[in-house]
Amino acid sequence: MRKPVVAIDGPAGSGKGTIARLLADRLGFAYLDTGILYRAVAYINVGDRNLSTLSISDLLSIPESDLRTDEISAKASEIAKLPNIREILTKLQREFVANPGEGSEGSVLDGRDIATVVVPGADYKIFVTADLEVRAKRRFDALKQANPQITYDEIYQSLAARDEQDRTRKIAPLVFTDDYVLIDTTNDSIEESLEKVARVVEKGKFSK
Ligand code: DC
Repeated sequence: MRKPVVAIDGPAGSGKGTIARLLADRLGFAYLDTGILYRAVAYINVGDRNLSTLSISDLLSIPESDLRTDEISAKASEIAKLPNIREILTKLQREFVANPGEGSEGSVLDGRDIATVVVPGADYKIFVTADLEVRAKRRFDALKQANPQITYDEIYQSLAARDEQDRTRKIAPLVFTDDYVLIDTTNDSIEESLEKVARVVEKGKFSK
């Protein structure tokens, strides 16, 4: 029998990654940030490589600081439209869910299509969102120290473009459906939002 899965989807900058990581720690579950896989594929320019030879550990071995740039964000969203790339990354994510590791009681995955495509039978489906202005402000505050040139407007525009692209692509778009529990982080801190998500999960105690 497969171990329990918590699927967390939502747009960029909503806080879903932080919430997912902290929730996984709290539950003793393995955590997979699926956006990192798309970023890694964008970074290594898979064009001239055989996609099917890639493993999760290859993709996770690239330093995160190389992947969390604005350029790679845009490129990841672009290559995420391609069916052959989605197919191989979906397969890798399903393998992770099937085998999250000896010491893990289950897994938490965050992305755009986890509950809709990757693991439609997930035990918990959480959709984390926030108003675009708030997401852009959070991103700006996080990046401005390392990159004093960056402006709020630039970040706002790039998040808006990525939202549009991720929500309107033909395959596995980011879409809110009725079976998600909606967590809006616009007016709450990430810690407060984490508590809300944890309450949803702990209340159910994986009884499904
Ligand atoms: O979560 P993130 O911002 O790191 O993701 C980067 C891009 O990867 C995102 O704009 C769209 C793509 N992505 C996806 O299509 N499906 C996922 N499950 C995760 C990310």
